[in-house]
Amino acid sequence: MSISLSDPLELPCGITLPNRLCKAAMTEGLADPQLRATEKHARLYRRWAEGGIGLSLTGNVQVDHRHLERPGNVAIDGNGGLDVLKTYAEAGKTGGTELWMQINHPGRQEPASISPNPRAPSDVQLGSNDKAFGKPIPLTGDEIEEIIEKFIHVSETAKAAGFTGMQMHSAHGYLSSEFLSPVVNRRTDQWGGSLENRARFLLTIVRGVREACGRDFAISVKLNSSDFQQGAFTLEECQQVVSWLGEAGIDLLEISGGTYEQPMMVGNKGNAKTWQDPLRDSTKAREAYFVDYAKAIRPAATMPLMVTGGFRSREVMEAALNEGGIDVIGLARPLCGDPDGPAKLLAGELDALPAYENQLLVAEADAPDMNPIQRAMLQGHGQQGWFCMKIIEMGEGKEPDLSMTCLEAAKAYHANEAATNARRIEALGAAAAE
Ligand SMILES: Cc1cc2nc3c(=O)[nH]c(=O)nc-3n(C[C@H](O)[C@H](O)[C@H](O)COP(=O)(O)O)c2cc1C
Repeated sequence: MSISLSDPLELPCGITLPNRLCKAAMTEGLADPQLRATEKHARLYRRWAEGGIGLSLTGNVQVDHRHLERPGNVAIDGNGGLDVLKTYAEAGKTGGTELWMQINHPGRQEPASISPNPRAPSDVQLGSNDKAFGKPIPLTGDEIEEIIEKFIHVSETAKAAGFTGMQMHSAHGYLSSEFLSPVVNRRTDQWGGSLENRARFLLTIVRGVREACGRDFAISVKLNSSDFQQGAFTLEECQQVVSWLGEAGIDLLEISGGTYEQPMMVGNKGNAKTWQDPLRDSTKAREAYFVDYAKAIRPAATMPLMVTGGFRSREVMEAALNEGGIDVIGLARPLCGDPDGPAKLLAGELDALPAYENQLLVAEADAPDMNPIQRAMLQGHGQQGWFCMKIIEMGEGKEPDLSMTCLEAAKAYHANEAATNARRIEALGAAAAE
């Protein structure tokens, strides 16, 4: 009998997902200047829950208030805010949606405007000459142990607030993914070298969270199928790590891929000239670009498997469930513009989620003074900004403004990030003066 998108799925921890659609993690930028969750998170996640999604993953929550992926990140690091987290968790579980917190440390992928000296396994700088990211300071062994404790502490806080699970962000080139990559992790101690050593950070956290949070708390890991970079984390290494994660008893593995240097997670190859390709080419072949990798990982995966990246049509989603050995479909960008998309898919009212192709291009006429590479760079910022701005609009209780252009989004996003960072710095200064 074939599996349908509306079939429930029981996970090893005992939680039953109401359907096969998951809202993948998307950074919200909605924290207050002290990096606490706000009413805006509650509003946003209620909106997504009402839209029919079975499982909702939060945007990445930071374990250390000094190190952020973005100025408006939530951090859980001695800054209080448990009451709002409880309201947020309650709202995100509206109608039986499961809500799990994605937990992260940015590693070297931390904007220089937040920290000129990010912390990472080794001192290998992102994009070497890129002023946007500073040269990392290698973590000491004690600091690594402290960060592991922080991940466990944030998981316990998530559980106490009412989130029914956590997701360890071990993909996309952030700290845990950096440990896995021999290009970024040049350590010669127990945290570097062999794959066993490079995977120690991730596996120690997973085992620690299980011990602290118990068997009925869901543990998920988001993992790169590959970093898609010479000498970095490979598909073969991924298969081995997946088998270790199975032994550690995780409940759901999410497969993605890429890093800031090779942004395959959103279908780009990291070359400015290719920015437009995935958006322009809306053929089925471009959809769900990690499904073949997931098929290769499936034999090593004893846990339920989720894949995220490029899913748009019901046909491709159902094929992944029925022919690809995939259990859960991860959706991100389409839910920024159409939060009700899952309910429409489940009810058979919609055959494909929107891709917003027209809004995501910067026309030559929009930026007449720019050469094609500059325009492609602007477009990259505008595309990320467009989705981020839709999330912010929903957090403010508005419907997403689908008429916003890529250029408008780039400007609005830039202004929003600068203002949020200024408020964060002001709050830090005020706290230091107390
Ligand atoms: C605005 C935005 C924010 C994102 N933030 C996160 C994040 O916090 N954590 C994460 O693991 N992935 C993040 N992603 C990646 C998505 O979870 C997903 O892997 C990617 O967008 C591909 O899925 P899609 O084609 O359905 O959008 C983000 C993507 C977007 C567009």
